[in-house]
Amino acid sequence: NYLRHVESMSQLPSGAGKISQLNAVVLGESLASEENDLIFPSKEFSGQALVSSPQQYMEMHKRSVEDPAGFWSDIASEFYWKQKWGDQVFSENLDVRKGPIRIEWFKGGITNICYNCLDKNVEAGLGDKIAMYWEGNEIGVDASLTYSELLQQVCQLANYLKDIGVKKGDAVVIYLPMLMELPIAMLACARIGAVHSVVFAGFSADSLAQRIVDCKPKVILTCNAVKRGPKTINLKAIVDAALDQSSKDGVSVDVCLTYENSSATTRENTKWQNGRNVWWQDVIPKYPTSCEVEWVDAEDPLFLLYTSGSTGKPKGVLHTTGGYMIYTATTFKYAFDYKPTDVYWCTADCGWITGHSYVTYGPMLNGATVVVFEGAPNYPDSGRCWDIVDKYKVSIFYTAPTLVRSLMRDDDKFVTRYSRKSLRVLGSVGEPINPSAWRWFFNVVGDSRCPISDTWWQTETGGFMITPLPGAWPQKPGSATFPFFGVQPVIVDEKGNEIEGECSGYLCVKGSWPGAFRTLFGDHDRYETTYFKPFAGYYFSGDGCSRDKDGYYWLTGRVDDVINVSGHRIGTAEVESALVLHPQCAEAAVVGIDHEVKGQGIYAFVTLLEGVAYSEELRKSLVLMVRNQIGAFAAPDRIHWAPGLPKTRSGKIMRRILRKIASRQLEELGDISTLADPSVVDQLIALADV
Ligand code: PRX
Repeated sequence: NYLRHVESMSQLPSGAGKISQLNAVVLGESLASEENDLIFPSKEFSGQALVSSPQQYMEMHKRSVEDPAGFWSDIASEFYWKQKWGDQVFSENLDVRKGPIRIEWFKGGITNICYNCLDKNVEAGLGDKIAMYWEGNEIGVDASLTYSELLQQVCQLANYLKDIGVKKGDAVVIYLPMLMELPIAMLACARIGAVHSVVFAGFSADSLAQRIVDCKPKVILTCNAVKRGPKTINLKAIVDAALDQSSKDGVSVDVCLTYENSSATTRENTKWQNGRNVWWQDVIPKYPTSCEVEWVDAEDPLFLLYTSGSTGKPKGVLHTTGGYMIYTATTFKYAFDYKPTDVYWCTADCGWITGHSYVTYGPMLNGATVVVFEGAPNYPDSGRCWDIVDKYKVSIFYTAPTLVRSLMRDDDKFVTRYSRKSLRVLGSVGEPINPSAWRWFFNVVGDSRCPISDTWWQTETGGFMITPLPGAWPQKPGSATFPFFGVQPVIVDEKGNEIEGECSGYLCVKGSWPGAFRTLFGDHDRYETTYFKPFAGYYFSGDGCSRDKDGYYWLTGRVDDVINVSGHRIGTAEVESALVLHPQCAEAAVVGIDHEVKGQGIYAFVTLLEGVAYSEELRKSLVLMVRNQIGAFAAPDRIHWAPGLPKTRSGKIMRRILRKIASRQLEELGDISTLADPSVVDQLIALADV
């Protein structure tokens, strides 16, 4: 029915015309009115799009779920395989009641993702095409590499890693900012079959140490320092502290290869320990510029990436090679309607999954030209992004709602003083994009002509799961629209029953897709318990979702104890564990609250030890504790002094009540009679503004 409706609507000469600016508040706006607001791609856009109509999407999606083996093996055949996969394209068990969870794609197929990203493109004649434009923090500091040059640099690093004894299956930790050396390092590991684990360079020494202890790398790759905006951050000092900590915990790392980032600091100003430390520029250029590929099985691990869950310990999400390769390449191509002439810029850091799948692997598998930006998007002013767009003629721009919201607070002239005429497709990721941010992005940044791909996915899913295909469907501001090929989303109720049609509930996925993660490193039990046991038979995403009358999906945020701050996923338990390490903190409970720019902010209730008085200084030192334990991005926005916490008689903290107090919805506290001590609530309310 909806299809017929769309057909009749698309007869209207609306094109991608100006859309209404609702007078909505930035967050918490009602979505009800958005359901009926259809924004059509222009005829010109659809006419050139890879998927140009709802019908074409529906046919392709139908085939992808009815015949996944045929659908995905046709695509996989376009890549290089040293040896083709076995008879079974995929095999899976996603039902804990039937045995251990197992997902395998292209098993027996022998390939290498670095080869497919680089050598294959060079052999196809793209050697002189720019693979990466690098834009430094400061205006005027830039560089670039062609596909041939990138291949040579990757080979030099790969040869070095082999030389110091890194072998197939060994872990390598990468703690680098957005220098070209970061994707180079990832590709070099992949080339020799080593398993990279990139740690976002905003994580503290303690967090880095925790990850090192878990995956036990032979080597860590870093740089001496980085400038982000006006600030210089001495990464090498953080690595040194992390390595000291990890060796106390029994894991020592032999080599710390350090890139000299001379725009941030000098060698002389870098603390150095001979023996372990090696300057990148002193050794890597001496190595040969070609390096044999280590051919690996499609199911051999490619990388580990730690992410937050609902307990304090981060989870090592493990992705394997073949399925991830096919999935990231295909999602990139279709969700951004990629064409070989595009210049693509994703503002994400390679320390997160977005930088893995959509800075490095997805684009390079397509032979794309990628912009890598070292700096802060509002430095030296709010026009920096559009300056970069014009400078490199960026045609696909992919970013996070938090950046859109922070830029839309400034005058539109920071946008409109740049031409932006190269832009063709916009993208959003990391959290639900609220309709007013969507409209500003669409109308102001994209001049009402660029479709927005609001891509819903997760570290665990490897690639896009629910996303518009620009040119196919009309969009609704704030909806991630429809599932990608091969993806079967289902919405279930608390009992795990699938709900059909228009509904709200928990978002799960039926069946596997090639990019799915295969396990949590060293903890398959936790993998099954977290993702496959809550609703037997399905993968549970941890997100809430509704589906409207037209079948569009609307993500509504996490339903577990995970909060999403500026698109960064943070477990409330991680922040609580950091707070209770403070010598004067007896107990802590953390909840998320709406935040105008960050999406969610961190709100911490803290109970102090008996006899300790509240003070501003103490508040600061509690925040510092979290910065040191996790990283600056996890610093609480509010500390709320709590003489006690609302607990049930069995001692369970009632977070529902804390969330209401944090958001000052005091009239909606609900039933508090089951609390062991209901007077705690009044005490908390009394301290709300202290
Ligand atoms: O809550 C969803 C939100 O981000 C979570 C995944 O976080 P992470 O693994 O760090 O990956 C972020 C980049 C893929 C999801 O569970 N999320 C991500 N993208 C969207 C989103 N929520 C709504 N809309 C999105 N487009």
